[in-house]
Amino acid sequence: MSIVYDAAARTLTLNTRDSSYQMQIGPLGYLLHTYYGRRAEGDMSGLHLPKDVGFSPNPHALGAERGWSLDTPPQEYSGANAGDHRLHALKAEAESGAWGADLHYLRHEIRPGAYTLEGLPAALDPEGCAETLSVTLADPALGLEAELLYGVYERLDVITRAVRVTNTGSGTLRLRKAASVCLDLPFGDWDLIHFHGRHAMERQPERAPLLHGVQSVGSERVASSHQHNPFVILCDRHAAQYGGDCYGLMPVYSGSHLTQVERDQMGAARIVSGIRDEDFSWTLGPGERFDTPQALLCFRHDGLNALSQRFHRFIREALCRSRFSRTRRPVLLNNWEATYFNFDREKILAIAKEAKELGADLFVLDDGWFGKRNDDHSSLGDWFVNEQKLPGGLEPLIRGVKDLGLQFGLWVEPEMVSEDSELYRAHPDWALKVPGREPFLSRSQLALDLSRPEVADWIYHTLAELLRRYEIDYIKWDFNRSLTDLWSPALPAERQGELAHRCTLGLYRVMERLTAEFPQVLFEGCAGGGGRFDAGMLAFFPQIWCSDDTDPIERLVIQRGSSYGYPLSCMGAHVSASPNHQTGRRTPLDTRAVVAMAGGFGYELDPGKLSEEEKDRIRAQIARFRRYEPLLREGDYYRIGEEEDPADFAAWQVASRERDESLLSLVLTHPRANPAPLHLRFRGLDPEARYTLRLELFDACAAEGMPREGVYSGGALLYAGFTFPRMFGDYPSAQVYLKKIAD
Ligand code: GLA
Repeated sequence: MSIVYDAAARTLTLNTRDSSYQMQIGPLGYLLHTYYGRRAEGDMSGLHLPKDVGFSPNPHALGAERGWSLDTPPQEYSGANAGDHRLHALKAEAESGAWGADLHYLRHEIRPGAYTLEGLPAALDPEGCAETLSVTLADPALGLEAELLYGVYERLDVITRAVRVTNTGSGTLRLRKAASVCLDLPFGDWDLIHFHGRHAMERQPERAPLLHGVQSVGSERVASSHQHNPFVILCDRHAAQYGGDCYGLMPVYSGSHLTQVERDQMGAARIVSGIRDEDFSWTLGPGERFDTPQALLCFRHDGLNALSQRFHRFIREALCRSRFSRTRRPVLLNNWEATYFNFDREKILAIAKEAKELGADLFVLDDGWFGKRNDDHSSLGDWFVNEQKLPGGLEPLIRGVKDLGLQFGLWVEPEMVSEDSELYRAHPDWALKVPGREPFLSRSQLALDLSRPEVADWIYHTLAELLRRYEIDYIKWDFNRSLTDLWSPALPAERQGELAHRCTLGLYRVMERLTAEFPQVLFEGCAGGGGRFDAGMLAFFPQIWCSDDTDPIERLVIQRGSSYGYPLSCMGAHVSASPNHQTGRRTPLDTRAVVAMAGGFGYELDPGKLSEEEKDRIRAQIARFRRYEPLLREGDYYRIGEEEDPADFAAWQVASRERDESLLSLVLTHPRANPAPLHLRFRGLDPEARYTLRLELFDACAAEGMPREGVYSGGALLYAGFTFPRMFGDYPSAQVYLKKIAD
C-alpha cells in the first residue's frame, strides 16, 4: 500500500520509493500539509508548532483561543477570503457575490488505479500499480466541494495531483481560480529554477533564490509558450546536479498557465500552479463539476539530475500513450530547410531518393503542399493539395516516396486559418475575433476557435480524412502563433472567461480522437519550434520539435535546458546545413549529428548539395544512431561536467538501466591554445564491473598515439574518471561507448 491512513493521528501518507508526502486532518477539519520530502515514517504533524502571529486571523470557532491561524501553517489546498492571506489555490463566487473558499475536510477514499480527468490528459497506470487518494473538502457556505486527487506511482517516484470542484449548492457557482496544486514547504532556503526563452531559444534554465513576496512563471498565450515553460523546480540553495533536495512540478497542460511561488512572512514557501487565473472564470450550474489539469510532482534528495531522470521515465512509461513512446523511431529527412516553400514533385522526389540512399526511414513533406500556399500569407485551413506544385495530388508523390522504400510524413497546422483561404471565406466567424475590431495577425494568420465543437469536429474530420485516404506514417502538427482576440460568439458574455481553457480542451479532444483512431501514425508536435513543449502535448504526441534553431551549438543549451524535465526521446532534433540558416555558424557535420542524436534524430537539409564524402559520413551517422537508438531512448540521462569552470565543452551521457552499456557525447565549445586536460568522470556504471571503452570520432587519437579501445573498471571510470585526447578546431565532437564485459 503506498497510501496509508492513520486514524489515530488523522494523517494520510503517500509513499513513493524514495519520498513521503503527508497531510493531516487538523483543527476544525482544516487539511494541513505536514510533509513532503525524503521517505520517512510516522506522524510529522508535531513538527509544526502553532503560533499566534500578529494580524493573522483566528477561526471564530476557536473563541478566545488565539494560538492558531490559517495564515501560517502549511495547508494542503488553500482557500481564499478565509483567514489565509498567502497565495490562494481556490477562489469561487456564489450567486450572491460572496466569494472565496473556506475548505474543511469532509471524507476521503483510497482506491487502486489511476484517476482520469474530464477532457484532459492524465497519467495512465500501465503496470496496474498506481493508487489514488481522493480527499474531499467542502465549503457549505459557498456550496462547493473540492475533491483533491493524488495518484501515487511508487516505483516511478512520482505523485500526480488534480482537483475536481463540484457545485453542491442550488445556485450558480463561478470559479475564479482553481489551481491544480498547492504545496507548502514550511522550512528551507529555496531556489526557483525555471526555463524561460523566446522563439529559437527555448528553455534556458534560470536559477534564483526565492525572495519574500511572490514570483511567477506563466503564459497567457493559450499555449505553454517559448517564453516560460510550465515546468519548474524548487531546490535547496546548495542543491546541484548530483546532490541536494529538489522538488519538480510539471503541469500536464498546454494552454495558459501560471505557477506562483510565495516566500511568506515566516520564510516559508508556497507554490500554487494551474490554469492561469487572470481572465479565467468557469460557471458551474448546480451539480456540475470542473476538473483542473493534472500536475506531476517529484521530490529527490540526491540532486537535479536524479529529478530529471524520474520525470523522463514517468513521461515515457506512464504519461505518453503513443505506442512510439517505447519503440524505435524512424530516422527522418524533412524538406523544410532544404526547400522552404519552393518545391515541386520532381524536387521532392529527388530529395527523397537521396534520403533513401543515405539510409533514412521516413521522408517528411513540410509546409507549402496545400491550397495555393507559396509563402506564409495564405491557405491555412485548405488542407487539400496545391495542384500547381504537385499536379495529380498527393497520391503520385506518396507512391513515389513509398516506391523508394521510405515512409511518408506530412506537415499540418490545423488550429490556424489564413484570411486568404477557402475555409476563412466560408467561415469567417470560426476565427477568434473581438466584435467590432479587426483581429491581430501573427505570421499573417488567425487562430480557429477550438472551443466550438463544430470547429474542433471539422479539424478532426479533415485530418481523419487525410489519414484515411493517404498512406501517411507521420504527422508534424504545427502551431505558429500566440492566441489573441479571445472572444467567442458561441459563449454568453458571462462565460467568455472560459474560452482560453475551452480552446485547449478542444485541442485535446481532437488530438485524443486522432491518436486513438490512427495509432500507427507517429505524431510530432511543433509550435514555431518548441513553443508548446509540455507534458500535455506529450501525453498524445511522443515527440516535439525542440526548436526552430538547428544550430548545434545553440541546441546544446536548448536541449540541455529541456532535459531538466523532458526525455531525449521526445526532443525532435535534426542535422541541418552548415553554415546554419539561423546563426550563420559553421560546424562539423559529425558534431551536428552527435547533438541531434540527443533527440528524435533526423536531417533537415538538401542532400543533393552534399559531397560524396559528406554522404558517406551521414550513412555512418545513421548506422551509429541505429546502433545506439534503444539506449538513447530508454536509458538514464546524465548531465556531465557542469561543475567544470570554465566549461569549454558540453557533455552528456546515457546509461542503460542495467548499467551494461553507456554512451557519452562530448562537444568542444571553446577551443584553447593551451587547454587544461579534458578530464571527466562517468556516471551510471557498475563500480564492480569491467567495461570496454571505445573512443569514437576522436580524430586526435592517432596523433596522440592513444588506442581507441581499452578496458577499465567501472570504479575507475566513476571515481578516477578519464582524460580524453585533445580536441582541436571549430566545435569538434566525440562519443565514447562503454560496454560491460560479461563475467
Ligand atoms: C514552423 C516550424 C518549422 C516549419 C515552419 C513551416 O516555424 O517550426 O519547422 O515547419 O513552421 O512553416
